[in-house]
Amino acid sequence: MPAHTLLFWATLPILLGVVLYQIGPHVLIPASVHEYAGFKVLRSLFEETHCFASVTTLSTGLPKAECFSVTNGRFSRVFNDDLIKQDASYDAVKDTRSGYVYPGLWDGHGHLIQYGELLNSVNLFGSGSMAEVQDRLVKYKADHPEEGTHQKWIRGVGWDQANFNGNWPSLSDLEIDEAFKDQYVMLDRVDVHCIWVSQKVLDLLPSPLPEVPAGGEIVAKGVFCDNAMEMVLEHYPKPDKDRKSKFVKDAMIELNKLGIVGMHDAGVVPVDLDLYEHLSDDADWTVRVNAMVECNERNTFCPRDVKKVSTPNGMFHVRSVKLFGDGALGSWGSAMIDPYSDKKTSTGSLLVNATMLSALTQNWAAQGFQVNIHAIGDLANRLAIDAFEISLKLQCPDITNLRQCQQEKFRFRIEHAQIIHPDDQRRMLELGIIPSIQPTHATSDMGYAESRLGEQRTADEAYRMRSLLPLGPVLGSDFPVEPASIFEGMYAATTRRSPRTGLDPSGGKTGWYPEETLTVEDALKGFTINPAFGAFLNGNAGVIQEGAWADWVVLDQPLEGLDLEDLRKVTVRETWVGGKLVYQRRD
Ligand SMILES: *[C@@H]1O[C@H](CO)[C@@H](O)[C@H](O)[C@H]1NC(C)=O
Ligand SMILES: [Zn+2]
Repeated sequence: MPAHTLLFWATLPILLGVVLYQIGPHVLIPASVHEYAGFKVLRSLFEETHCFASVTTLSTGLPKAECFSVTNGRFSRVFNDDLIKQDASYDAVKDTRSGYVYPGLWDGHGHLIQYGELLNSVNLFGSGSMAEVQDRLVKYKADHPEEGTHQKWIRGVGWDQANFNGNWPSLSDLEIDEAFKDQYVMLDRVDVHCIWVSQKVLDLLPSPLPEVPAGGEIVAKGVFCDNAMEMVLEHYPKPDKDRKSKFVKDAMIELNKLGIVGMHDAGVVPVDLDLYEHLSDDADWTVRVNAMVECNERNTFCPRDVKKVSTPNGMFHVRSVKLFGDGALGSWGSAMIDPYSDKKTSTGSLLVNATMLSALTQNWAAQGFQVNIHAIGDLANRLAIDAFEISLKLQCPDITNLRQCQQEKFRFRIEHAQIIHPDDQRRMLELGIIPSIQPTHATSDMGYAESRLGEQRTADEAYRMRSLLPLGPVLGSDFPVEPASIFEGMYAATTRRSPRTGLDPSGGKTGWYPEETLTVEDALKGFTINPAFGAFLNGNAGVIQEGAWADWVVLDQPLEGLDLEDLRKVTVRETWVGGKLVYQRRD
């Protein structure tokens, strides 16, 4: 018998064992085989087992465990400690049992490239004076000498004129020293509603300046607010592919530090979807991304520019589209049924009319896309629900059970879902429409929301959380608009107080409309299994159970029973994605 034939026959049982093992030891192989010693050796070759003080699985079968095994980037079994004591073949990491494990965290609404862009800009948050702003700019420039050109402006964010004795900054404040002469600089105000630019940037605009558009204002020389920002932004050099790739990877490093293993990117244009798909094969793509399509022109139907994606490694997914109903509450841009309480002449503005919104929803749904509509004001929310209801009636075979059809096939979502008329809250509950909520938006807006909306409307409609709990709200941060920390979001949801100050708008500890708080457990679900369901990734993500992706975080103490004041300061010890360690805190 030739040597290679002999080798074939000799290795066949091993190969067969490997194949059997890979296709699923617990499904196909009878229990008796599990006891066979050779099988145990084989298992230990492919399986890695981890044990901890406790493992919160969020799985209904076994809510609490102590150990799990990982095979091929997925959990292959989840079990209690006593099992391991009887079976020495488990290659358990026995000395790291001090941590508390939870499913890897997901942010249900964020913006990846923009977050990376923020990380690559001057951090002006908390700067207490103009001198401090200038000092930070000089330091940044020294570290990034290549920035400040026509092609690569110096970007910054976080200034606040309240810290300049109430005076708006101006062009001349940016002529700090010789190195700053002739620099292209653009700095966002703390709320990103104004930008402050240098002389070089201003020189790009026509002179004299064109008329300022409605809803915009130039508040000082070089400071453009709200709709006036577009006059500058059209000259901003869009980052190229390499720069965007850097933004994405820098963002992922930061997100992993926060225990985040996955995120829903709320609006990605076709060229960036291609970039993501390409990058998602790389070893340093360490956050699972579920991207919502945003057509090159907002609120259009562009099925030829995009395709549904689910990469074999589970790191990148596309099967939803983002539409935009209205603007923000802070600038009176959200579309309201009745006028604003502090601006009686205005009901805000819709970005798309009802006919168009329904037609777009219907067209995308017919192509098998989940439709996620940005809606803040109660009119925008009503029109979004109308659009969903019409589409469900047209698409679902059994018109008497739209809710089930919505759950199984469409999972239509409302992004932000901030101000919703009680009638429409009921309709959402009936139809099972998923609210995608950012708890820190509630605490950032709580200082002025009541003046915009009046007492009654605030009490009945605004920033619902517990009222919408039966819908399995997807929670997120909207980073970089708010900090990406999930624990700050959980704190905002469970206390309705600012994660920054720990206080409600009256400076107390009661919380803003505390009847809308969530429990820690429900908030945790909002950042794990609910975003998984809201992305059609349930069973794979947000849970520790056999067959799910092996994504988890290790904390120093259990979240249950933690003093809520400590919640906002929780840091993660380790983050694991697909069975690989992607972040480890240095103590
Ligand atoms: C809605 O908007 C579309 C596109 O902007 C426009 O063609 C249409 O006439 C509008 N319909 C109504 C009823 O205003
Ligand atoms: Zn957003």
